Amino acid sequence: MSSNEMMLVDEKINQYCIEHSSQPSSICDEIESYTKANVYSPQMLIGKLESSLLGFLIHTAKVKRILEVGTYTGYSALAMAEQLPQDGELITIDINSETNKIARSFWEKSPHSSKITSIMGKALDEIPKLQGQFDLVFLDADKRNYTNYFNLTIDRLSPNGMIIIDNCLWSGNVIKEEKDIPEKARKSTVGIKEVNDLVASRDDLYLSMLPIRDGMFLIRKK
Ligand SMILES: C[S@@+](CC[C@H](N)C(=O)[O-])C[C@H]1O[C@@H](n2cnc3c(N)ncnc32)[C@H](O)[C@@H]1O
Repeated sequence: MSSNEMMLVDEKINQYCIEHSSQPSSICDEIESYTKANVYSPQMLIGKLESSLLGFLIHTAKVKRILEVGTYTGYSALAMAEQLPQDGELITIDINSETNKIARSFWEKSPHSSKITSIMGKALDEIPKLQGQFDLVFLDADKRNYTNYFNLTIDRLSPNGMIIIDNCLWSGNVIKEEKDIPEKARKSTVGIKEVNDLVASRDDLYLSMLPIRDGMFLIRKK
């Protein structure tokens, strides 16, 4: 999938929005450049616009503790950690030790690295081992298990807490008939549609689904 396929909004509009939004650090830029040049599927990085919205929410909701599912090369983890207060914490889970090594090599250069705890393992195994509540849960891995991740975390939110499901529009596949969805995207599309519908069916939640990048689903309890 190319980065253009993932872009739901006109590229020039997207660029204009980025230019008028707060930016993550130059270390995040370094992660992006390195990932684009050297790592598989660099379009998986959340990028600048999504980072600015996450940062805005972190400040507005006074987020102190974040759980991220899907570290990859560490871009979103660092972009969010940069916006946390000094005593904030971001726990991030991934199964890939190679991309994790890359993430750590860039985080080491950041004054915000001490806020990041990186866990290697399958999110389904690791989330139940974690203690305490989360102010923000960012789901960005293993789309087929999104419903499981939602179920594992929705009752672990702090009173003001939120879940953000990334890629909730999956390049627009969520509104296509099955025959029109590329073969390799079908199973993930099923997982994403399942969690989108489950979340939307609950009247105890306050929701906002946004067509930013590949879709962001903002979820909090009423
Ligand atoms: C979309 S990328 C994350 C991108 C990252 N959030 C960013 O924006 O920089 C998804 C990551 O999920 C990881 N992953 C896949 N299955 C997983 C699982 N079952 N548990 C934890 N991580 C998983 C992959 O190894 C990959 O690094």
